[in-house]
Amino acid sequence: MKQINLKVSHGYPIIFLNNFNDFSARLKKYLIQKKVFIISDTNVAAFYLRKIEQLLEKEKIDVKSFVFKAGEERKNIKILTDIVKYATASGVDRQHTVIALGGGVVGDIAGFFASVYMRGLKYIQVPTTLLAMVDSSVGGKTGVNTESGKNIIGTFYQPQCVLINTKFLQTLNSRHLRNGMAEVIKYAVSFDVKFFRELNLIFEKEFISEKDFENIIYKSCSFKADIVRKDEKETKGLRELLNFGHTFAHALETVTEYKEFLHGEAVAIGMLFVCELAERMSFAKKNTASVLKEMLAAAGFCLNINKKYDPVKFFEVMKRDKKSVSDKIKFVLPKQIGQIKSKMGVEDKAVLNLLKEVLK
Ligand SMILES: NC(=O)c1ccc[n+]([C@@H]2O[C@H](COP(=O)([O-])OP(=O)(O)OC[C@H]3O[C@@H](n4cnc5c(N)ncnc54)[C@H](O)[C@@H]3O)[C@@H](O)[C@H]2O)c1
Repeated sequence: MKQINLKVSHGYPIIFLNNFNDFSARLKKYLIQKKVFIISDTNVAAFYLRKIEQLLEKEKIDVKSFVFKAGEERKNIKILTDIVKYATASGVDRQHTVIALGGGVVGDIAGFFASVYMRGLKYIQVPTTLLAMVDSSVGGKTGVNTESGKNIIGTFYQPQCVLINTKFLQTLNSRHLRNGMAEVIKYAVSFDVKFFRELNLIFEKEFISEKDFENIIYKSCSFKADIVRKDEKETKGLRELLNFGHTFAHALETVTEYKEFLHGEAVAIGMLFVCELAERMSFAKKNTASVLKEMLAAAGFCLNINKKYDPVKFFEVMKRDKKSVSDKIKFVLPKQIGQIKSKMGVEDKAVLNLLKEVLK
């Protein structure tokens, strides 16, 4: 069984399983006492909650569970207060370990709850979407959305361990599988041309095997863990590299009110945008954008926006991104496939000209 040890504030492992046999035995090692509080959503719970509860109960672990209606709309303060209400009424205390059983929405909410309830409970990430396995479950960012924006309230709070079991992917639909794949492609374009070539071969196949998924997830977690290890709280300019394609993506998600694109779908278009921008500035090697475009199409992404947006207003939204510094966007741009750099001082005119073409 593979394992990555992430040495952040407290070191913790990312453990890779491909079955449920030793799931509870592995998980048990990271509990304070034999008491867990599972947080999940309705879709995940319908497939897996009873199964996980039974596995834990077999180990004589006391289990309490809270399930909320699936969807990004639920990632808000109201759900947090609902969980607190349930937790206090059912006796969840600091002897309990919180288990985040679900995708990124569950992971972010459960992590946030764990970081503030009774001044902090230990928690374990059990990601069930590809996006959560390769990205959100690793690195300790937690949070909820408010009317003022996405992930506007949150904490850095690292789990005790991340338990990745690829069997969960069997019930995930193809759109959400592809959604996670955008972040996988992001790691390849950002850090490793060899991985990019491997992905190209995988996307040529009729279907992606479980072995391929295991390999893809392991490599992606290694890239993320490596960055988080060096820049846990995003203060050293390294963790921001993980935002390749994200400034454009966040703006696209905002102007479409989170209704048209899943995050990964917006990131795919965002990565292409910055590749094109970098090429036009002669920052990136020629054909970087066309090589990426081919891969994204092979992975099944639709790369058209299909609606007109005012480029000036869109640019304003991009500038409001959390990563901007005094109204200037710090772009993460590719030099070539496998190498990125963050760059201040990209001319507004260059961005606007490209936006006019993309958003027409
Ligand atoms: N904390 C971080 O570092 C970080 C990083 C990236 C994204 N995020 C957050 O992650 C969230 C998106 O995560 P997501 O894409 O996993 O969305 P999600 O959690 O909403 O899951 C997507 C859908 O799949 C369902 N689902 C989950 N696992 C399933 C399974 N195994 N089988 C069948 N259905 C399943 C869910 O119920 C949901 O309907 C966003 O809120 C984003 O802000 C956080």
